[in-house]
Amino acid sequence: KTIESLGDLRGKRVLVRSDLNVPLDGTRITDDGRIRASVPTLRALLDAGARVAVVAHLGRPKGAPEEKYSLRPVVGRLGELLGTDVAFATDTVGPSAQETVAALGDGEIAILENLRFNPGETSKDEAERREFAQQLAALADAYVSDGFGVVHRKQASVYEVAQLLPSAAGLLVLKEVESLRKVTDDPERPFVVILGGAKVSDKLGVIENLLTKADRLIIGGGMAYTFLKAQGLEIGNSLLDAEQVDTVRGYLETAEKNGVEIVLPVDTVVAPEFGPDVDSEVVASDQIPADKEGLDIGPKTAELFAAKIADAKTLFWNGPMGVFEFEKFAEGTRAVAEAVASCAGFTVIGGGDSAAAVRNLGFDESRYDHISTGGGASLELIEGKELPGIAILEEDDK
Ligand code: 3PG
Repeated sequence: KTIESLGDLRGKRVLVRSDLNVPLDGTRITDDGRIRASVPTLRALLDAGARVAVVAHLGRPKGAPEEKYSLRPVVGRLGELLGTDVAFATDTVGPSAQETVAALGDGEIAILENLRFNPGETSKDEAERREFAQQLAALADAYVSDGFGVVHRKQASVYEVAQLLPSAAGLLVLKEVESLRKVTDDPERPFVVILGGAKVSDKLGVIENLLTKADRLIIGGGMAYTFLKAQGLEIGNSLLDAEQVDTVRGYLETAEKNGVEIVLPVDTVVAPEFGPDVDSEVVASDQIPADKEGLDIGPKTAELFAAKIADAKTLFWNGPMGVFEFEKFAEGTRAVAEAVASCAGFTVIGGGDSAAAVRNLGFDESRYDHISTGGGASLELIEGKELPGIAILEEDDK
């Protein structure tokens, strides 16, 4: 259901669940991608004359207020992007929220304090979530779900509240789902997937699903070392998901059976330890010294990956190739970002670190077809899982 299905919104109070979970350095926003992505829906609602109450989370506070997780730093940036004043309520459903929402005029907007300061938001107990959802619902006449980054979470502001108010998907959620389904449902081939990041165990479901769908799987980043180990290579002190070595060996066999090409690093940048100024060298993947750890893919691997990316008709990338936060180990991620940007196929970057890496390394976002705002959410969609926050919007009987 789209925003139009909610009818005339002039003067109506609309509760919008956005994902404003941006990285902060103190109170400084280091990547405002998610705030920018939430603007089109908010703009549309304001233009329609709605009175908009935005709810969102920041970080993972444990059901009670914590200053460092306050949404206050986001208020100014959202106001700049919208070109309008944004009010702020210092609680989520308490007196401040109620007064702030009641004071809104048509086409005005407020952000309510972090949802996760309330235990009901993320409670495992459905009744508690429902009770908190009722308090949220009491603030509004309609609900718009636009926090794509949380649609995989069965949480009060994502799931239960949609059962209590006339509800619709926001523009960001629609765009995300459309782009990611284009990747998973009948992709144009070759369909190439690049996976990186630290832990294999975070990506097991996705790898398993891709072994029946993708034509080529390119593996870099910390998780590649578990693949190299599964092939019988020595990886020194590199990151190892020891419990997953057998599973990964199974994946390599399945890939061969299914005709899925697996591309692994042929060289790697190693250092004695993790840090911005350590001495590093490039070694072949089968020559990793026992006392060193791999922190980025090497230059030959970057070239190999770029060649394997070039002919993709559909491409999905999740996870950096190395410790890109340190300039010394950012080359691999930079090379892949460039190769994906140059690829003529349909290219999607799946959230989290890879999206932040692309922006922080200075790449022009318009060179990619879609940069997802969801980390876990985009992976779960690619895994083929049903996402509660999407399923509830697709139900008819509300
Ligand atoms: C994210 O950062 O992926 C989303 O904002 C969801 O956050 P969460 O993993 O803490 O639920």
